[in-house]
Amino acid sequence: MYEKTPELIWWNGEIVPWQEATVHVTSEVAMRGANVFEGVRAYWQPSNGHHAMLYWDRHLDRLRQSARLLRFPAADAESHIARMYDGAASFVRALNQQEDLYLRPTLYIDEGRYGWKQGQVRLGSYIAAYPTGPSPSETVACIVSSWRRTPDPSISPLIKVGAAYLAFRLPRIEAQQAGADEAILLNTNDTVAETGGAAVFLVRDGVAVTPPLADGVLDSITRRTVIHLLRSSLDIPVIERSIPRTELYTADEAFLCGTLDEVRSISSIDDLPIGSGQRLVGQAVRNLYLAMCSGTEEPLDAQMLTPVKPAVPSGTS
Ligand SMILES: Cc1ncc(COP(=O)(O)O)c(C=O)c1O
Repeated sequence: MYEKTPELIWWNGEIVPWQEATVHVTSEVAMRGANVFEGVRAYWQPSNGHHAMLYWDRHLDRLRQSARLLRFPAADAESHIARMYDGAASFVRALNQQEDLYLRPTLYIDEGRYGWKQGQVRLGSYIAAYPTGPSPSETVACIVSSWRRTPDPSISPLIKVGAAYLAFRLPRIEAQQAGADEAILLNTNDTVAETGGAAVFLVRDGVAVTPPLADGVLDSITRRTVIHLLRSSLDIPVIERSIPRTELYTADEAFLCGTLDEVRSISSIDDLPIGSGQRLVGQAVRNLYLAMCSGTEEPLDAQMLTPVKPAVPSGTS
């Protein structure tokens, strides 16, 4: 997805050529990864002839929360987020690409170091957009990483900050070296947390189980959606509780969910096949979720999809 350099980027309220959006090598964002970010999908809906951004409001709420928890000056952060709120739709329109996009709204510290009051640091913001290509494969082979999810007393998993995401580098390399697609991280209590980009669900005896937020996971927007779909649309009970490592291997089914992963069944963990290979629950959630995102099923709620309708030419009403 990141292979091709896009031509344009939204930067501090303007749509500019990609190469113009730069920071200094010694800026806080370059030196310590001081950027809070979101990953948002804008699905191309051919039947409607426009994109629809998935849970745009919720992503910006979480971005605001990450900035607040890291004490980015609130008024400055808010003014950037307010511009992003409307800017994303204009940007998606300007790109004029009739395919699914992955948007990365990001707020970063450009000048200054540890300031938290208005004027002590200068913030910058951007939204990068990448064509996602086709949906990721339906199944994924995982390992359990030897590395742990950063615990709340270090950098909270609730904060999506670039610096914390460097902690997924070694688990991802570990997964590749083992010939797997993804690494599941345990937390520092040795129970299951999540991958670097998705929540983990198991299914056992017709009940879905996922770790609670207190077990060191991001408050994933897809996780919330999937819990809702399982309970209300598929009539499958969901329990949020700690999951010991060994339970991963004994599940009837397991799947990942996240904005980029969407919903993907786990075929194996540490080379042990999961269940009998039947993936009824994972597939049912995946089909329903994708149908809603693509616009062929009614969305879950009014917030789910923000349409990016073509601009009305000036002079018309
Ligand atoms: C660490 C981590 N866990 C889970 C997720 C899934 O979250 P969401 O469903 O909000 O995309 C993400 C993606 O943002 C993530 O970075």
